[in-house]
Amino acid sequence: MAKAKRASARYRCAECGAVSMTMVGKCPGCGAWGTLEEEALPREAAAGRVAGPRLEPVSSLAVPPEERVPSGIAELDRVLGGGWIKGGVVLLGGEPGVGKSTLLLQACAAMAGAGHKTLYISGEESAGQIAHRAKRLGIREKNVDMLCDSDLEAMLGAVSGYEFAVVDSVQSFRLDGENGWAGSPSQARAVAGRSSETAKRLGVPMVMVGHITKQGTIAGPKILEHMVDVVLLFSGERSSSHRLLRAEKNRFGSTDELGIFEMEEGGLAAVTDPSHLYWSKGPVSVPGVAIGVSLEGSRPLAAEIQALSCPTPFPYPKRTSRGVEVNRLQLLLAVLERRCGILSRSSDIYANVAGGLSLQDPAADLSICAALASSLRDVAIPGDTCFIGEVGLAGEVRPVARTHLRIREASRLGFKNVFISAGERLPAEKPPGIEITKVFALSQMVERLTK
Ligand code: TYD
Ligand code: MG
Repeated sequence: MAKAKRASARYRCAECGAVSMTMVGKCPGCGAWGTLEEEALPREAAAGRVAGPRLEPVSSLAVPPEERVPSGIAELDRVLGGGWIKGGVVLLGGEPGVGKSTLLLQACAAMAGAGHKTLYISGEESAGQIAHRAKRLGIREKNVDMLCDSDLEAMLGAVSGYEFAVVDSVQSFRLDGENGWAGSPSQARAVAGRSSETAKRLGVPMVMVGHITKQGTIAGPKILEHMVDVVLLFSGERSSSHRLLRAEKNRFGSTDELGIFEMEEGGLAAVTDPSHLYWSKGPVSVPGVAIGVSLEGSRPLAAEIQALSCPTPFPYPKRTSRGVEVNRLQLLLAVLERRCGILSRSSDIYANVAGGLSLQDPAADLSICAALASSLRDVAIPGDTCFIGEVGLAGEVRPVARTHLRIREASRLGFKNVFISAGERLPAEKPPGIEITKVFALSQMVERLTK
């Protein structure tokens, strides 16, 4: 029998990284068209020699010490889980102008201030532009070095000897020997691959900046996110100077933490009391406004929910929301109707979370219901009352995580009354000045507030 000819090349999808041994038009992995590119087979595989894998029980593996290097910026460290990790690679994404370069230059300066040598590699801006930013930020530290060139390979060669490096950005460099223009999927993958390989080999923490798409995800192939240890997203509304930093993925810590900054004249400053950002105590109580205490990572913050119901002659009333998912709004309206007798089918409903905050925490349910009931019954809720609890389809109020932390925050902010689930078990010691009202059912709360 004729011996099959051994393949010398294979084809890899530039989008998802799937491998095919034949050239096909449509990627078998992600279904994208025309994304397969030829690559040489690794030599051992081509020669048919595969080294036998060495088996080791997990329990006998040595645990390497986790070496954290604080970034010197508390909000950033909170999101990272305590600082950079040696050899760890972070991808920082965000809209143009949100402040990615500013944040990283500030981090370089803060680290340099703590005696670390830092390197900022830029393919986006000229040295002059960066010097201008550094002046604005008042950076005088010596240990912040700058490389602005197009030859990434040479610049990565300089990383050795540094204790922190930034590559700004993945989309602005082009590596020779790789197909495509700068920013194309194959180039972005190659640039990210080469940069992270350098960081891992030298044990230097590195941040790569990544552009994002209109949909808010990191531009370029999805594989970029698999290649790094941490993916951070930096966001903020154009009309506001507040910026939020979240981890989409974090191999070294939690993805729940939120970093809150304000962009000021001299750079990004931490917002240490975020409750006051999303909630401001007004002089009068208006129907439709209720305060919840949401948990962002380990941090409780007061969020103001606003609901407005407006009678409509049309058979299909509108449900519009910002900061609360519209499906969740519909579900809570259905629970209010069936379990509490509050009808909304002839009203348009608008719901909004003040300050542009987006609430994912189920503990916000009770405050959303309170705001809706208050608007539909046209009865204002006292301004010193807040709500913590999840609402189930049976109309029950369910306990949530870390209620005592949330109550402590409510007490600190001067709330006098808080509604929580009757199923909550709290520590014996109660924060000062706050009355806790426990309810089993949503209807109990609605009756008390809107009678
Ligand atoms: P930048 O860091 O260049 O954004 P990115 O790298 O994400 O594109 O930030 C640009 C914006 O931030 C720009 O509109 C100017 C503003 N800014 C300030 O308001 N204060 C400052 O101290 C700095 C440096 C920038
Ligand atoms: Mg930039």
